[in-house]
Amino acid sequence: MNKLYEEAKKVLNNSYSQYSNFKVAAAIRLKNGKIITGVNVENASYGLSNCAERTALFTAYSQGVRKADIAELLITTEQEDFVSPCGACRQVINELMEKDALVHMTNKHGEIKTVNVHDLLPFAFSEDDL
Ligand code: THU
Repeated sequence: MNKLYEEAKKVLNNSYSQYSNFKVAAAIRLKNGKIITGVNVENASYGLSNCAERTALFTAYSQGVRKADIAELLITTEQEDFVSPCGACRQVINELMEKDALVHMTNKHGEIKTVNVHDLLPFAFSEDDL
């Protein structure tokens, strides 16, 4: 867990967030120990901005990772409060990670709150509904 936190902190300054000035980093730990990171990447057309969680998950999937490979996801910011994934990210997390995989939310003091994917989005719309 500490390693995951350190790796997320390492990339936090890569955040491209000149519009919100709200830096976010995410780190995914695979079951084989590999860590994949991502940051939020904003756009002058604000709605096109991509959150750190989605950057990390899309990067992982682009490398061939699939949900069964992912153990946990950690999110970090420089904020006092614990960072909580937005609704869009919860939907993507629900699709791309297993229901019992862990999601760790941190605050600037390095404290960690942990939930699982199901807790983040109960009653989710998913492939089962199609
Ligand atoms: N953001 C994330 O990257 N992850 C979250 O969990 C919450 C919000 C980003 C989106 C935007 O670039 C900035 O933070 C402010 O909303």
